[in-house]
Amino acid sequence: TAAQQAHQRGWHLYLVGGAVRDLLLAPGEETLTLQDIDLVVDGFHRAADVGAGVELANQLQEIYPQVRLSVHGEFQTAALIWHKDAQLGSLMIDIATARTEFYPYPAANPQVEASSIRQDLYRRDFTINALAVRLTSPREGELLDFFGGVEDLRSQQIRVLHANSFIEDPTRIYRAVRFAVRLGFKIDPHTEDYIRYAICSGVYDRLRLENHPAPALTTRLRAELTYILEAAYWKPALQLLSNLGALRCLHSNLVLDANLWWQIRFVSRWLKCLDSENHFSHWLIRLEVLIAALKPDEREQIAANLQLPKDSIERLRDLEKIENSVQQNLKKCDKISEIFLLLRQYKVPSLIIVAARSDRLERHRIWQYLTKWSKIQTFLDGNDLKAMGYKPGPQFKQILDQLLIATLDGEIMNREESVEFVTNITEKT
Ligand code: CTP
Repeated sequence: TAAQQAHQRGWHLYLVGGAVRDLLLAPGEETLTLQDIDLVVDGFHRAADVGAGVELANQLQEIYPQVRLSVHGEFQTAALIWHKDAQLGSLMIDIATARTEFYPYPAANPQVEASSIRQDLYRRDFTINALAVRLTSPREGELLDFFGGVEDLRSQQIRVLHANSFIEDPTRIYRAVRFAVRLGFKIDPHTEDYIRYAICSGVYDRLRLENHPAPALTTRLRAELTYILEAAYWKPALQLLSNLGALRCLHSNLVLDANLWWQIRFVSRWLKCLDSENHFSHWLIRLEVLIAALKPDEREQIAANLQLPKDSIERLRDLEKIENSVQQNLKKCDKISEIFLLLRQYKVPSLIIVAARSDRLERHRIWQYLTKWSKIQTFLDGNDLKAMGYKPGPQFKQILDQLLIATLDGEIMNREESVEFVTNITEKT
């Protein structure tokens, strides 16, 4: 329908970007379900009007009223969201008019103007993402490959279209790594040189989060970081980012040395064991470990610039205090109850990060606390105390706390001993 509507208006319609790449990578794959489709409208003999994409989207929404339409951006693009069902999820179709981009200065937000499909493809990140399939007649179904994308898919290479690509858009460095690791491709040697050149030439200094964040770019960078740290392939991706020097965008001093690498893997292992139901965002805690490697007074600001969630910013702000308290006091504890009372003040993610950054003894005690001691319960609860004739109030909490301490330290082994213990301590007071 979209192609018919475009054709009636004298436009060409193209399927572009990741959908073409993925279709070519999985030929004949009947189960390939696309969730995100990018379409581009172009004129037959000259560039289409700037509003062509939105006009087409409006028309499609009239035909399919169940589809939600939203229009965004200065250079209007339209998104049609079709919620299929709970199982199949949603399909998002972005419709844009062919455009070309100008970067007024490196790492700026691009300025755009209408152009041909070739120019539109030329502004894209990698050859494998700069392929298009024409959906309108004549020559419908034709694959447009101006920059050698098909050959790069065949030879499994991530290659940029021009040398300035990373200078103009430093988030592409993260994308190069993401696609390389996800698809099992190699970054072409020239492209790798351009990455290193962009980083050496200080492209990240413009956006570096320790100084002055550029909001739109930071949001995109954060999205790319999230993708990478969330993915099953986060380990090789993070190592590749580090080898390329790309972690410098977070901070000029951030180096993934053997110690930090160990800490991140450690935290991930503990999270896997302790939080198998994913109550916490594991990717976020991995990112926090990276940020925690920086000086304490820089952590909170970087987390805030990266627009991390509030609890994450707070964890990084409080990390130094928690770490000092745990590291100074934990080794002095003689009893399990002392360890319990010290560690119960802190939340699980903070304790896991502190454990990764602590010595063996502390790590062992935090592990025992998280897996065993924090789960120990008293043999009596509030209802039992009521049945024993005690009235609810502040005394209740005191009794239960003392009971817990005695239980943790193995002084009470069952209900009878608990009743006796409560009778003894309350008689004394
Ligand atoms: N693109 C780009 N430069 C960027 C981001 C995106 O050139 N910094 C272009 C690429 O052509 C890309 C398309 O926009 O294919 C769509 O971007 P996106 O949806 O982020 O990526 P996909 O290629 O669709 O990849 P994925 O499968 O991960 O969604």
